[in-house]
Amino acid sequence: MRAALTGVLLLAGSFALAQSQTTEAEQAALLGYDAECAPYGIPLTTETGNEFPQLQTMVTVPDVRNDSAAFAKFQSINASIPNIPIKYPGIQYDPNADPDCWWTVSNCVTPKLAGLNMDISAAPEPRTLGYGFDDGPACDHNEFYNFLSAHNQKATMYYIGIYVMWSPLQAQRAAADGHQICVHTWSHGNMTQMTNEEAFGELWYTMKAIKLVTGLTPTCWRPPHGDVDDRIRYIAQQLNLDTIIWRYDSFDWENGLNGVTNATVQNNYDTLINDAKAGKFDTGGAIILTHELNNFTMGMAMSNYPALIDAFDYVVPLAVAMNKTTPYVETNVTFPSFAEFTNQTKSSGSSSSSSSGSSGGSSSSSKGASTNGTNSKATGQSGAVALGPSLTLAVAVAAAVAGAAFSA
Ligand SMILES: *[C@@H]1O[C@H](CO)[C@@H](O)[C@H](O)[C@H]1NC(C)=O
Ligand SMILES: *[C@@H]1O[C@H](CO)[C@@H](O)[C@H](O)[C@H]1NC(C)=O
Ligand SMILES: *[C@@H]1O[C@H](CO)[C@@H](O)[C@H](O)[C@H]1NC(C)=O
Ligand SMILES: *[C@@H]1O[C@H](CO)[C@@H](O)[C@H](O)[C@H]1NC(C)=O
Ligand SMILES: *[C@@H]1O[C@H](CO)[C@@H](O)[C@H](O)[C@H]1NC(C)=O
Ligand SMILES: *[C@@H]1O[C@H](CO)[C@@H](O)[C@H](O)[C@H]1NC(C)=O
Ligand SMILES: *[C@@H]1O[C@H](CO)[C@@H](O)[C@H](O)[C@H]1NC(C)=O
Ligand SMILES: *[C@@H]1O[C@H](CO)[C@@H](O)[C@H](O)[C@H]1NC(C)=O
Ligand SMILES: *[C@@H]1O[C@H](CO)[C@@H](O)[C@H](O)[C@H]1NC(C)=O
Ligand SMILES: [Zn+2]
Repeated sequence: MRAALTGVLLLAGSFALAQSQTTEAEQAALLGYDAECAPYGIPLTTETGNEFPQLQTMVTVPDVRNDSAAFAKFQSINASIPNIPIKYPGIQYDPNADPDCWWTVSNCVTPKLAGLNMDISAAPEPRTLGYGFDDGPACDHNEFYNFLSAHNQKATMYYIGIYVMWSPLQAQRAAADGHQICVHTWSHGNMTQMTNEEAFGELWYTMKAIKLVTGLTPTCWRPPHGDVDDRIRYIAQQLNLDTIIWRYDSFDWENGLNGVTNATVQNNYDTLINDAKAGKFDTGGAIILTHELNNFTMGMAMSNYPALIDAFDYVVPLAVAMNKTTPYVETNVTFPSFAEFTNQTKSSGSSSSSSSGSSGGSSSSSKGASTNGTNSKATGQSGAVALGPSLTLAVAVAAAVAGAAFSA
């Protein structure tokens, strides 16, 4: 439950001249990896570290048992969690019978167990792309988020709990920019390989981190590697989380690994784009898996954006695709329904400006609606010099190192 770290003082000195990063707007104004990813700390997260699991590893059973709020919630659902075996490596499992609707072996999205909601694996509306990015917040996402803002484009961001705690101002930017934030677990492990309490904790603490940092409680999650079965779906549903999967995979995260190259990833994007042009989504839309993981994945998202906008009629966050006008537990942030969205974008060719502070996603891109939003945060740099709390300096360094280990 503590963020015990070593080597803190050694690291502190080298970052003493980092630019000031004490507010979301200050952080959002930075550009370039070195500036954006310079370690910082804000009291919100540095002073609450003991209420969260460690920032380097998966959630443990003691994390949940020692936390009265988490444990009370867990105990309230424990007895009803389906008795489905943990999918330890090497487990004997028949993918054809697929009794647990285990996506990893079968791409199953329709639960076998009564009472569970279907996974969302495509945007229901024709010629519509459910637009979103996994594995954020990336510390260096400002150029990409500036790009999205410049196009008045909202997306669904699937955030890793540890990253939210490492980069809280970057996470706040997603909310400020009107993106939809969903849970992508605390530590990005395979959920079906975890015990009930571990899996519960991975979701619980990511929700708690997002709430702490943005004031908002998500109602959606995406399983890392798509690894979900009916036991995990049940736990997620008890936490009021919709399970969101995909049907196309860009494999952008794998660039440089296992023979995957820029050309492979481009080809994966092209498959979706060509399928859209060929009419494959004329009766129902699509979701592609893409990431804000690193410079390459965000660069590919930007270079493919014009083709996606061209191939699809509507490119929207899942909240819009699913008519989830209040996609957080807190109802002060609203997104348009799909009908409202298409009305807005068709009516004048200019997207309406969001009423300040309360509209989370008043517009996203649609063909014929090309008014560019402005991003006031993209200009102006703070010249202030700050010496961040040494504890978080080390945390952020760990973020940069460990970031490379996460994928998909
Ligand atoms: C949980 O609480 C027990 C008893 O208070 C303590 O001994 C233990 O160190 C705690 N474990 C964690 C992981 O915080
Ligand atoms: C959860 O329920 C199982 C049996 O249904 C029980 O063995 C276990 O002790 C319970 N765990 C907790 C933390 O209450
Ligand atoms: C998680 O599952 C995926 C398959 O979906 C596998 O490739 C990966 O190695 C697993 N990761 C771990 C840490 O077991
Ligand atoms: C919505 O309410 C939450 C919790 O009260 C608050 O933290 C957040 O800033 C509010 N967001 C907006 C856009 O008003
Ligand atoms: C991928 O390769 C293309 C063609 O060489 C290049 O234009 C583009 O910048 C590359 N994209 C990234 C993100 O590296
Ligand atoms: C990727 O890195 C290069 C070199 O630092 C930079 O010019 C470019 O803007 C970055 N792209 C993104 C999407 O951040
Ligand atoms: C969204 O609302 C529209 C009409 O208001 C309806 O036709 C459509 O089926 C709804 N979509 C979903 C996913 O509920
Ligand atoms: C869409 O626009 C039409 C015409 O202005 C209006 O009658 C209708 O109520 C609008 N629908 C929604 C969902 O905003
Ligand atoms: C809007 O964005 C497009 C695409 O980036 C660009 O070509 C165009 O010049 C921009 N228009 C305005 C008015 O900024
Ligand atoms: Zn992921």
